Amino acid sequence: MPKRVITYGTFDLFHIGHVRLLQRLASLGDHLTVCVSTDEFNAIKGKSSVIPYDQRAEILSACRFVDAVLPENDWAQKRTDIVEQKIDIFAMGNDWSGKFDDLGDLCEVVYLPRTEDISTTSLKAYMDALRSEQLGEIKHLIETLNDKAASL
Ligand code: CTP
Repeated sequence: MPKRVITYGTFDLFHIGHVRLLQRLASLGDHLTVCVSTDEFNAIKGKSSVIPYDQRAEILSACRFVDAVLPENDWAQKRTDIVEQKIDIFAMGNDWSGKFDDLGDLCEVVYLPRTEDISTTSLKAYMDALRSEQLGEIKHLIETLNDKAASL
């Protein structure tokens, strides 16, 4: 029987940590379903994404490790998904270690190591820092131009 694997996440600003996780997830079985958090569900979690749900889902569908993409609308759907999708392995990155052990009565639960030094949060922080730096440069330029204009 082919082994079916499922995972859940936001996958915003798709990065190398996501690629490597999906590659490892795909190698656990024969079919990988990725449930992508919708924008509405992210709002419930107190999160917001730069890339809207439709585009995050399309990016994941285009990834060769992914066989199916479904929306993640709420915390409670995992049990139903596992039964409906005939899942053998539920797997997440190990930032979730122990959090989903209760699903162990339905299927195998696995936590995989995360890729170090990369996350959506760190990419957002980098972009914020870049914006502050650019704003600082623009402010400096305006001050210099003002000084020049005043001395004319
Ligand atoms: N993941 C990973 N390695 C990373 C980042 C994420 O293996 N460096 C995994 C997570 O453990 C999760 C999946 O990718 O199983 C989707 O994670 P997501 O929360 O969308 O990505 P993060 O980069 O962790 O986002 P954030 O910083 O917003 O938490």
